[in-house]
Amino acid sequence: MAIERIFTGILGTAAALALWAQDPVLSQSTPEPAAPADNAAAEAGPADAPAPDPLAKGKYLAAAGNCISCHTAPGGEPFAGGVAFVTDFGTLYSTNITSDATAGIGGWTLEQFTRAMREGIDNDGVHLYPAFPYTAFTKIGDEDMAELFAYIKTIPPSSGVPPANEMGFPFNQRSLMAVWNALFFEPARFTPDTAQSAEWNRGAYLVEGLGHCGACHTPRNLLGAEKADAALSGGTYLDEVTGGAVRPWYAVNLTPSQNGLKGWTQDNIVTYLKTGHGTRVGSYGPMNEVITGSTMHLSDADVNAMAVYLKSLKPIENGVTQTIAEKDQRAGETLYTIHCGTCHLPTGLGSTPGSELGAPLVGSAVVQGNDPSTLINIILNGTEVITPAPAKGWKNMKAFGNLLDDDEVATLANYLRTSWGNQGGKVTPAQVAKQR
Ligand code: HEC
Ligand code: HEC
Ligand code: HEC
Repeated sequence: MAIERIFTGILGTAAALALWAQDPVLSQSTPEPAAPADNAAAEAGPADAPAPDPLAKGKYLAAAGNCISCHTAPGGEPFAGGVAFVTDFGTLYSTNITSDATAGIGGWTLEQFTRAMREGIDNDGVHLYPAFPYTAFTKIGDEDMAELFAYIKTIPPSSGVPPANEMGFPFNQRSLMAVWNALFFEPARFTPDTAQSAEWNRGAYLVEGLGHCGACHTPRNLLGAEKADAALSGGTYLDEVTGGAVRPWYAVNLTPSQNGLKGWTQDNIVTYLKTGHGTRVGSYGPMNEVITGSTMHLSDADVNAMAVYLKSLKPIENGVTQTIAEKDQRAGETLYTIHCGTCHLPTGLGSTPGSELGAPLVGSAVVQGNDPSTLINIILNGTEVITPAPAKGWKNMKAFGNLLDDDEVATLANYLRTSWGNQGGKVTPAQVAKQR
């Protein structure tokens, strides 16, 4: 989806994000303009601190929802849309949500905006596609919605018109979305769980609502609807890899499972979401834009709440195991020693961030993911850390796609997935060929 904006370092968007980052409201690290007290959960935070800028709350909520990433095309004007979303059903483009009365949503009322955000229906009553995460935004409360709209209304107008969608029949029939919604979607506000703390509820509200983490991290059914019973247990979707090709990515299991965040402390999660690096891993893939466009700008209290919620999830153990033949194990070890071991160390433990070496592979969610797409992407294309690179973060890992053939990449992947206590199902050369 929208990843090319960060990956290829296109200036326009980099500039937009830089502006965003410099913004006094969004760049402050103190929890000052936390989202408004919109429900019981929100009341917990430092939410009622008076904000001098009347739009501060709305702007903060726009960051929590990462509107800018999905609505700003490479080199395009902020929020003017035109970002391509490649899906199994065709390619669609995000819309212009600037205050332009014709090209944007400047003429919309709060009611129309609210209906779009909560029900996926635009001002003309036309159905929107769920690449726009209204299935998550439906959880946004009334007060937050009004603050968000007040801010969106102030975005400078752009007359930019996004390209026409390229959706094949029948998916180009938007009316079909009424059937999809009837099958898979029920508009509903977030309801706090009174058995849980206010902090937990705040985290749940952000992760499931504005943060729309499940849009990538929850597996989808054949018609593209998130599977509620497998929420946040890992999802595969299409996004750009370094170089611009669109390939499957696996957004890892975020529950505290063996192949998920079991080994991550509260602090690991917070540091990663706030800075894009940490002792377990640095950000390098589609998470780059989630962090730079959104979580980095959230208050410490809110990111802490999100981590509390993630840590509390019931582990969904959906990992697969394999037994590896001794000769494959030896072949993998040899390849690893030659190409990877100097950075990731023979123990797979890697080194501390900031050094020239590599991240730990032991316990890695990416290495153990039940879909190896992301693991294969990294080996083939290397990693690209977030911009600006965190001072204490890891460097980029180079691409091995030209050095290793499909068999070797598969052998290496299987070695990583069965060493040092790691567990992950078999990777075939055919899977590697598909990801090239
Ligand atoms: C994951 C990507 C994504 C994120 C995040 C996102 N949007 Fe969108 N949005 C889209 C896409 C794609 C469309 C177009 C859907 C379609 O054409 O059916 C869209 C459409 C819309 C529309 C309908 C506009 C119209 O002209 O019909 C509104 C309003 C909107 N988004 C507002 C927002 C706001 C506000 C945020 C942040 C809170 C946001 N979006 C975040 C992808 C996103
Ligand atoms: C020159 C040092 C270097 C070499 C050689 C190297 N890597 Fe890396 N690798 C890194 C760095 C640095 C990172 C972390 C990037 C980041 O966090 O942004 C990384 C990250 C990874 C990750 C992601 C871990 C996670 O949990 O997200 C995997 C998997 C990986 N490397 C596998 C390999 C394999 C397989 C090889 C050999 C083919 C290899 N690396 C060779 C430096 C290296
Ligand atoms: C646009 C899709 C997308 C969205 C939205 C998204 N993620 Fe991710 N996430 C990924 C992908 C892909 C990976 C694995 C590769 C990488 O690090 O980019 C990942 C990895 C992670 C990791 C593990 C890092 C690692 O390498 O082990 C954490 C933690 C995480 N995401 C948290 C979140 C949270 C919290 C949210 C919601 C605020 C979120 N993500 C939203 C795509 C997404």
